[in-house]
Amino acid sequence: MKYQRMPIEVESPEELGYTNIQYNLAESSVRDRTISDLRPNWDNLVLNYSDHRGMPSLRRLICENSAELNSNDVLVTQSAAMALFIVNTSLLSSADHLIVIRPNYATNIETPRAIGAEITFIDLDFENNYQLDIDLIKYQIKPNTKLISITNPHNPTGVEFDMVTIFSLIDFLAEKKIYLLVDETYRELNFQSRISPYFAEKSKYVISISSVSKAFGLPGIRIGWLICKNEQLQLLFLAAKEQIIITNSVIDEYLANLALEHKSEFLKISHERLSKNFEITKQWMQSHPYLEWNEPKTGAIAFLKFKENIDFDFSEFYNVLLKEYGTQVGPGHWFEQSDRYFRLGFGYPTEAELRAGLLQIDKCISLFII
Ligand SMILES: Cc1ncc(COP(=O)(O)O)c(C=O)c1O
Repeated sequence: MKYQRMPIEVESPEELGYTNIQYNLAESSVRDRTISDLRPNWDNLVLNYSDHRGMPSLRRLICENSAELNSNDVLVTQSAAMALFIVNTSLLSSADHLIVIRPNYATNIETPRAIGAEITFIDLDFENNYQLDIDLIKYQIKPNTKLISITNPHNPTGVEFDMVTIFSLIDFLAEKKIYLLVDETYRELNFQSRISPYFAEKSKYVISISSVSKAFGLPGIRIGWLICKNEQLQLLFLAAKEQIIITNSVIDEYLANLALEHKSEFLKISHERLSKNFEITKQWMQSHPYLEWNEPKTGAIAFLKFKENIDFDFSEFYNVLLKEYGTQVGPGHWFEQSDRYFRLGFGYPTEAELRAGLLQIDKCISLFII
């Protein structure tokens, strides 16, 4: 493995220091929650090693709404990031080829790269509403293709891929015995649509990944999971987990269990904020002279584009926006895209912070336009 740091982490709000950012529009989650929101009663919590696959009740809660899945199909990990690492390192070697649909969450690119796997990137197209091109994916498959990696709901655009297309991709890949990794970390941020079942329900060649970080506002407890109905693969993933960490933190598992027990209460608060802030963002974008987007359908983020007729030093714009206007967004290079694009997180800020942050963006743009 050849590790290197990723710009999205080097330049992240937590590395800059939250107190150094006045208007944080760089996050991809809802606002962080506190221990008191979870009301733990944990004086007698035994601080032992937990079940290697993850706390049994937590695994049941993760798949409780599915008639197709049971808790043996779930491996609880110490975050979605770890689940992604487990899947990539278990399935890929430097002799393997994979297709990564880009833009994508940086880890989904960097871990296969660190392994030395051969990567074909398929870039989603703004003009095509960032939808999957299944013919192109089929065309790029090689004899040594092991894995296709997608993120849905999509980071950083907030779009959802067409279901029929994903289902037909799943069928095609099962025939070819190629795995599909679906990073579903944004799934419960569906504030204006019904939640879809995990794609792992559909085939033993699909691995779904999620966590409590984004929709629950609990990234600090580092609990995520992978779902896969293939028993052999589950054993492989378990072996990887045992070598990395043996078991998760029982404290984290206990808290994640509480969050999932009170899921509807948690998600109600998240969805209310998302709906309100999305309306504000939509109004701002409606007749924006310099920015355009494919309106996100879900999630807490949008990927905005400076219109083609606009040209200035975008990288300097983000520096000035942060340093002079106290506002951070996620520039395109976090996702290996042009800095003409940036990710705007509308789910994390309060309404007042969002309004003020959007105003700061406009002020900063006018500095560069004139
Ligand atoms: C698409 C995607 N997957 C996974 C992660 C990592 O989530 P976790 O906090 O559970 O490690 C992120 C975090 O930004 C993400 O955007």
